[in-house]
Amino acid sequence: MDRIRIRGGRPLSGEIKVGGAKNAALPLMAAGLLTDQRLTLSNVPQLADVRTMTLLLAQHGIAVDPVTEDGRALSLGGAITGTEAPYDIVRKMRASFLVLGPLLARVGEARVSLPGGCGIGARPIDLHLKGLEQLGARIVLEGGYIDARVRGRLKGATIVFPFVSVGATENLMMAASLAEGRTVLANAAREPEIGDLAAGLVAMGARIEGIGSDTLTIEGVERLGGAEHAIIPDRIETGSYACAAAISGGSVFLRGARLDHLGATVRILREAGVDIDEQAEGLMVRRLNGLHGADVMTEPYPGFPTDMQAQFMALMAVAEGASMVTETIFENRFMHVPELNRMGARINVHGASAIVRGVGGLSGAPVMATDLRASLSLILAGLAAQGDTIVSRVYHLDRGYEAVECKLAACGADIERVAG
Ligand code: UD1
Repeated sequence: MDRIRIRGGRPLSGEIKVGGAKNAALPLMAAGLLTDQRLTLSNVPQLADVRTMTLLLAQHGIAVDPVTEDGRALSLGGAITGTEAPYDIVRKMRASFLVLGPLLARVGEARVSLPGGCGIGARPIDLHLKGLEQLGARIVLEGGYIDARVRGRLKGATIVFPFVSVGATENLMMAASLAEGRTVLANAAREPEIGDLAAGLVAMGARIEGIGSDTLTIEGVERLGGAEHAIIPDRIETGSYACAAAISGGSVFLRGARLDHLGATVRILREAGVDIDEQAEGLMVRRLNGLHGADVMTEPYPGFPTDMQAQFMALMAVAEGASMVTETIFENRFMHVPELNRMGARINVHGASAIVRGVGGLSGAPVMATDLRASLSLILAGLAAQGDTIVSRVYHLDRGYEAVECKLAACGADIERVAG
């Protein structure tokens, strides 16, 4: 299994191109199931999760063909020949569950494996199922699979989510696009990736109002057509490399990054002493002076994202003073803490909060990546640490960060992937 070796202590300097957003690409690929015409997506990141979604769509009869040499533009199309999303694929990537709504809306049936638990908590799918039932689906759980059916078309309904869910909002928005009549999704997620999916659906002919707000109104149409859509830049990749520039004491230009998608991330980073300057083609991120502790609480967008929590904690580990990091979205998302502590961080977890007492420096150590964002937090710690850090289990990293070692090495980091 590959590992990443980092020798810390070098300030980054240079430019990193921010890729397309993983969490927009995956639902937009699932949207390919909603039409019999071709959906062409550009600015698609080259990630293990995108390859997993490609495999899953192939199970349903949808081919995903590269249309450019670099593989960043994909054309999706084909007739739906299968409606089962098997356990072997769904267990690898929870976002596989996003095929449920589109399959049901398009062909009236779907059999999708339950995702099961994952590293960061139980992550139920009850909101997806309840919402689809409200649209008229009959759902039974059988042998670890959700079996969903509808006679005729789904029917529009008003769905009020009891709390914000990105995935449930996406699944229901896609299903409602082909339902009969009007669907209102209240207390919907407002993440930029939801807006991007909505924009893609609108390009395909969907009628969606309220994009960017917490109430989406969808007038179902009988069929959706093909479209071309460019995926937004990845705001989590942006935030992660902003932390890399800051923790190394360097300066990096993040080409293609969008400040308006960063929500609370930019405010909190600035509060911690990171200089972020919006320019015509991206963001210039620098650490001019010392870092100081800042408290954060994860929240749905535009609040501070749970997907930035681990990376921010690495940054706070070397800031002056104390910070309190509170995780409100997932119940078990502090697995990076013991690993950071092995590198000399002083972090104590009390329930859903972690107290981070900044230390003068970290020291390199062998550490283990436990999930996607935790992996990046260990790489960040490695950039700041004295000596060598070896991060193992980097398959987590490859799910959501493209060529991280190449991007950081191009800015002067001493980092390499060690095969085996
Ligand atoms: C998406 C993102 C993930 C991010 C998360 C929160 C993708 C592919 N993944 O995941 O990177 O960390 O949003 O921003 O876009 N919940 C339920 N029942 C449900 C659905 C969710 O209880 O039916 C709970 C979850 O366990 C969690 C919370 O709601 O505690 C938010 O989860 P959700 O927003 O649905 O996350 P995902 O869509 O899985």
